[in-house]
Amino acid sequence: MERLQKVMAEAGVASRRASEKLIASGHVQVNGKTVTEMGIKVSEHDEVVVDGVPLHREAHVYYLLNKPRSVITSAHDDKGRRTVVDILKEEGVAERVYPVGRLDYDTTGILLLTNDGELANRLMHPKFEVEKTYIAKVRGIVNNNDLKQLRIGVEVNGRLTKKAKSRLIETDHKKQTSLVKLTIHEGRYHQVKLMFDAIHHPVIKLHRETYGPLDLNGLQSGEFRELKQDEVKLLKRISK
Ligand code: URA
Repeated sequence: MERLQKVMAEAGVASRRASEKLIASGHVQVNGKTVTEMGIKVSEHDEVVVDGVPLHREAHVYYLLNKPRSVITSAHDDKGRRTVVDILKEEGVAERVYPVGRLDYDTTGILLLTNDGELANRLMHPKFEVEKTYIAKVRGIVNNNDLKQLRIGVEVNGRLTKKAKSRLIETDHKKQTSLVKLTIHEGRYHQVKLMFDAIHHPVIKLHRETYGPLDLNGLQSGEFRELKQDEVKLLKRISK
């Protein structure tokens, strides 16, 4: 038996707190009866309905994808472009998984997909923002001052970015490009590209190497694998 708001969060309805609000405001029925009080526990035999829609409960699955370029990070695309979820479906994954966070259409690299809505919500919550490492190929020759700016914070949409780590990997003076490793904890929209825009070194190519404790470790572009149990445990621990 588990608390109703936890079951709702795990099914991806909303965060636990938002689920509590839905319960309190009469949006949720258990076995045909509207419940508004907190603390109710339900088992897998109870039928939970939110705004008339039965809760879809299935065993949790966790996949790690090396996202290729020209793929949308979403479950569905109105323009019919290939999505990260399509990649898993094409290989026979039957569960309804969702990406945790997003990578731009042209960004490659590590992406977590799961049907564990609660873990996904937690990992994406600013309070738990996990560490992410990116490799950025940028225009121009990045110097020490640029790296320092990235570390201490640059202004993005009127707000300073939080402390980050930055390291120059290599420069190409002929092509006037640099390769920079950047580690951030936040997940603002287009964050890395906007950070490099702020120091006047626009991103040419972006790849995400690590996500929290996870790395690609041999996964080729377009390949994915299931997380091991201890990796799932680790993710749960860091987002507690
Ligand atoms: N920051 C970006 O600008 N793009 C991404 O895809 C990820 C982080």
